Amino acid sequence: MGHELTIEPLGETIEVADGQTILDACLRAGIWLPHACGHGLCGTCKVDVVDGEIDHGAASSFALMDFERADGKCLACTALLLDDVTIEAEIDEDPDQRRIAVRDNGDMLLGLLTDAQLLDAERHRRWAAALVKMALETEGNRDVLAGWLAKWVPLGEAAIDAYCTHLPDARDTAALARAAAADFRTNIGL
Ligand code: FES
Repeated sequence: MGHELTIEPLGETIEVADGQTILDACLRAGIWLPHACGHGLCGTCKVDVVDGEIDHGAASSFALMDFERADGKCLACTALLLDDVTIEAEIDEDPDQRRIAVRDNGDMLLGLLTDAQLLDAERHRRWAAALVKMALETEGNRDVLAGWLAKWVPLGEAAIDAYCTHLPDARDTAALARAAAADFRTNIGL
């Protein structure tokens, strides 16, 4: 059944399922709250509860001290809603927020693997950008690269589509991934 969560200063209201943390619900709704450990240990995700009741869950007493609890603060990564709640948070505008890996059903391992994969992908993009920059300094290479793209882009897009058919809950993911790949090619001068 769940409850409604209103996030100020955005003024946005989202649904939070029973057993779902504030952080998880926000990330899934595309609202990027600062966070780090994801386990109630570091305090990075501290927000103010300005209305409604929450359960602090597994928040560590070091990351969220008693006086802070009394002051209406909570850790978004552990807090569960007992009521319709309004929080006040520092909202980060992160253009890459779609790349935040969220954890389903407390599956930490999958989340960590996804994080590692994202870091790896970033590294590959840096290497590819450097390689293309160097290649384009030599006359004639642009045509060679264009030939490779003509061959590989359709195969890459087919792979994206095939993968995304297994993600029925993630709407528009294939289109977003294809658009991100096209943006990347444009940004590196191809
Ligand atoms: S992210 Fe570390 S305590 Fe919430």
